[in-house]
Formats: sequence, C-alpha cells, structure tokens
Amino acid sequence: MKTGQKNDVSMIEFASHGDDKGMLTVIEGDKSIPFSIKRLFYIYGTKEDVVRGNHANKQTDMVLIPISGSCTIETIDTNQEQNTFVLNDKNQGLLIPKMVWRRMFNFSNDAVLVVLCSEHYSPNEYINEYEEFIECNY
Ligand code: TYD
Repeated sequence: MKTGQKNDVSMIEFASHGDDKGMLTVIEGDKSIPFSIKRLFYIYGTKEDVVRGNHANKQTDMVLIPISGSCTIETIDTNQEQNTFVLNDKNQGLLIPKMVWRRMFNFSNDAVLVVLCSEHYSPNEYINEYEEFIECNY
C-alpha cells in the first residue's frame, strides 16, 4: 500500500491474481487503501464531452478505480499543486483525500468508474465553488 502525506493525491496498485480461470483484483479497506470503506458508487454512461466533479469534499477520502474503459482526472490540492491522471488500469486506483478539488472528463464510452469512500453521503460536506475552496486553504 502506498500512502502519501496528508492530502497527497497518489496512485495505488492493487493485488491482482491471474490463473487459467482469468483475473481477480482485491481491495481491502484499511489494508490496500488507507481508510475503511463506508460507501461505494459508480459512474457510467458519461459522454466524452462532459465534465463531472468540479468540487472538493470536506470530510471524505476517495479511491477512484476505472474497472472498465478510461477517463482523465485533474486535481488541485491544498498547496495549489495541480496534477492530471489518466485512469485506464483496473488494477490501479487514484487516492483523492479530503480537501482536494477534482474534475473528471474524457470518459470513454465503456467507462465505469468505481469510487470507494471513507464516509456516507452528505451534500453538506461538498465545496462546489472554487473560490470557497481556495479560501479554505488560507
Ligand atoms: P454529483 O456529485 O453531482 O456527481 P459528479 O460529481 O460525478 O458529477 O452527483 C450526482 C447526483 O447523485 C447528485 O444528485 C447527488 C447524488 N449522489 C448521491 O445521492 N449519493 C452519492 O453518494 C453521490 C456521490 C451522489
């Protein structure tokens, strides 16, 4: 398990088992990812020209896994560091800790993006205005 500093966005490689029956990838909360999994949702059927996200979460850490197809994720962390990740490997997930702004785009037609979350859903923990996100960091 790769764990970065607080608020570090990073790729995590999962254990994958292959044999003559095919492949099997394992993700365990608090082991392969640095939190207990309270929620899972998945994104699919997003057109290529659509941008999703455009928000940060105050409390929730997430790991995004492209179990089918591909998409691109842009992140901006609390140090204003910007990164771009192309997700196209179902054996890797992108850890996006709390208080990181993210945009998701370039979804392929077959994209299914699974998102593991450290918290239950609450609309109150979303920051939807970029200006507010920037102000939170000072
Ligand atoms: P939204 O956060 O706008 O999706 P994205 O950031 O990928 O563009 O969520 C879309 C809708 O789904 C919105 O009405 C809120 C709802 N939703 C839930 O009810 N529970 C959840 O866990 C999530 C992530 C979203």
